[in-house]
This record gives sequence, C-alpha cells and structure tokens, in this order.
Amino acid sequence: MPSATDLYDPLDARVLRDPYPVLAELRRTTPVFWHEGMGSWALTRHADCVRVLRDHALFARDPRRTGGTVPEPSLSVQTLDPPQQSRVRSLFMTALRAQDLGAVEERARRLVTGRLDVLAAGGQFDVVAELAVPLSVAVVADLLGVEPPPYAEFAEVSDAIMRSMDGGLDPSLVEPGRIARQRLSELVDGWFAASSRPGLLDHVRRAGPGADPRARLYVKNTARVMFQGGYSTMAAAVGNAVAVLLDRPEALEQMRDAALLATGVDELVRFDGPVQGTTRVAVRACRIGGVDVAAGQKVVALFAAANRDPDAFLGADRLVLDRAPNPHLGYGWGPHSCIGTTVAQAGLRALVAALASYPAQLVAAGEGVRRRTATMRAYQTLPARLHR
Ligand code: HEM
Repeated sequence: MPSATDLYDPLDARVLRDPYPVLAELRRTTPVFWHEGMGSWALTRHADCVRVLRDHALFARDPRRTGGTVPEPSLSVQTLDPPQQSRVRSLFMTALRAQDLGAVEERARRLVTGRLDVLAAGGQFDVVAELAVPLSVAVVADLLGVEPPPYAEFAEVSDAIMRSMDGGLDPSLVEPGRIARQRLSELVDGWFAASSRPGLLDHVRRAGPGADPRARLYVKNTARVMFQGGYSTMAAAVGNAVAVLLDRPEALEQMRDAALLATGVDELVRFDGPVQGTTRVAVRACRIGGVDVAAGQKVVALFAAANRDPDAFLGADRLVLDRAPNPHLGYGWGPHSCIGTTVAQAGLRALVAALASYPAQLVAAGEGVRRRTATMRAYQTLPARLHR
C-alpha cells in the first residue's frame, strides 16, 4: 500500500489539478499522518486544524520559541507570536477598520468592468494576467494608499517570495525568496519615507510604532507582508474563483443577488481557496487525533482538506452559495488568521458583481494551467473569452 507521503505529493500533476480526492481518502484512513517531504505531521480534519491554530501557547508560529532562528526581514505579524504579535496586529487592524472599504470595492468593480470593456473587443485572453493581477495590485495598493509599483518588476519579486513558501520541500527556493524580500523592503522603505496618500499605511505611520527600532522593524515588515502576501493570495483566489464560476455559469448568475454574492464569495474560498495549509511547531509533547507529537515537531494544518471535511460541512464537496455559517479555514483561524479578510471579500465581491452584471458572458477558452506551488494553489494561466 502506498504511504501517505506517496499519496499526497502536493507537486504531483494530478494533485495540482485536483487535490481533494486524495485529501478525502487520507482524512478517512489516516487523518493525522507523517509527511516525509514536509518533515511534518499533516492534519486533515477541521477540528484538529482549528485546535492547533487556536492554541498558540502549545503550537508556535515563531521558530525562535522552539530553538530556531528568524532572519530580521522576516520578523512580522506573520512570524511573531502573541504577545509581541498582538501589538503589531492590532495597529494594522485598527488602521484597516478606519478605511472606507465600500469605496475600495466600488473602485475595484469599476476597474474590472473597464478591463472587461477592453477585453470584449479582443478574442481569447488570460484571466490571471488580465483580471486577477491588475485587480489584486489595484485593491491592495488602494487600501494601503500607495502608488502601484511597476507591474512586471513587482510580479517577478512577488513570485520569488511565493515560491519560497515551498522552501521546506525545495531548499533552493529559500535564497531567491530572501533576495526578493530585500528588494520589496526597499520599496516599502520608500513608502514610509515619502509623504503618502490617505490609506492604511498613512494611518499606521501616524498611529506609529514610536521610536523603538524593534517595533519599527516589525511594522515595516508587516507592511511588506500586507502588500505582497495580500496581492499574491488575492490574485490566486481570483483565478481559482473564476475557474469555479466558468464551470458553473448558473452560480455566477445567482450571485447577482446581493445576499448570495456576500455568502458566495466566502464559499468560493472554502471550495477552492488559495492557501493550502500552514505550519506550526509543537512547543511540548502532545497528542493530536490519536497521534503522539513530540516537542519540536512540525504540524501542518491542511486547509484544503479541512475545508472539505464532511464533519464540518454538509455537502462538503458541493458549492453551496448560501452556506451559513461557513466556518471555513480559507482565511486561517485564531491569532494568525488573515488580517485582510474584509478587503479580500470586498475585492472578490467586486470581481463577481462586475462579471455577473456584464452584458457579455465569460466562457472558458481551453484548460487552465496550475502553478507548480504547494502552499499556494493558483493558476499560472487561465484562458477565457467574452461571448456576446
Ligand atoms: C482571498 C484572498 C486571501 C486569502 C484566501 C487569504 C488567506 C490568508 C490565510 C489563510 C492566512 C493565515 C495563514 C497562517 O495562519 O499561516 C492569512 C494571513 C494574512 N493575510 Fe491573508 N488572505 C487573503 C488576502 C489578503 C489581503 C488582501 C491582505 C492584505 C491587504 C492579507 C493580509 C494578511 C496578513 C497580514 C496575514 C498575516 C496575519 C497574521 O499572521 O497575524 N490577506 N491570509
């Protein structure tokens, strides 16, 4: 019988195309399994994932708590744990709540409609390059209140960072990721030095980390994570959502209804979300799902598996637009859950609303190609055209 590691190779072509059958089988047979390639315990059940993500005292995000190191440029809201993380997180959350997300959503919707007008005049196009990337750069830059960087340059830097998230599987990706983070940090330095427009960054600067150099470092690094992480996850989510809707034109039509639009964008993230999982390290020996985990061992919460867990979701393999409540893990859970959830929801609503109300129908124009990345589930290209 093949081992769980052989069954679940996240970079295998079949798994990249559709990871859900393999994850369902593992959830049924060995819900907590040791994965050789990831050097980690992998959790497939919703309840086990939630437990680990909630319990930051037992499961560390910050590698320094379990004897590891973190390079300075990586010290951000994402790598710190409470209580240090809570201060940075609340600074950004407060700044986010002060933004007018309705206006961000409206501008995003106009941007998508404008692009559809241009694309309607041509033939086949790539949804990733023509819709997902511009929409995501625009939404995140608009939120932060910064000039969107030159796209070609930014895409290259962002891709290197995204690929380095698979550094556990392929260590050669780590160094290009470090260099890319450095280049992005220089861009963010520029934003902090220049007098910026109204937006989240301006708010953070004024509310300020104060003079403490440590706090200033965390804030700057977090601004970088917001921009790059927000952009790349959002772009991946847009590609995945459009692919699901290309397969189900009736769902797009139903989402003309405002209530279904609101619940539907969350269901799209549950059904085929971009972030496949996240890692924590056990601070002490413990048991999860009947398995003994030693102190210092890694534990990966597989969101993709948890989000299709029949014990948590009725009809888990179906897209149910009015699913409520929808306790999916597409935006994570607990103290490290996504800071940008409301922004992502606004961006996805803008996209779907613009597509649903457009006079021409978006149809597939061939098969999409998945990126060969394990942590982030995304399309490299997704061909489509507008049909009148
Ligand atoms: C549909 C789009 C998005 C999805 C599916 C998503 C998903 C996630 C997930 C799963 C996490 C938790 C990862 C973990 O526990 O390791 C996370 C964290 C985070 N996200 Fe998002 N995200 C999206 C968009 C955004 C946007 C637009 C922004 C910013 C504008 C953003 C900012 C962040 C930040 C700063 C964190 C780190 C939070 C922390 O560690 O305390 N995300 N996101």
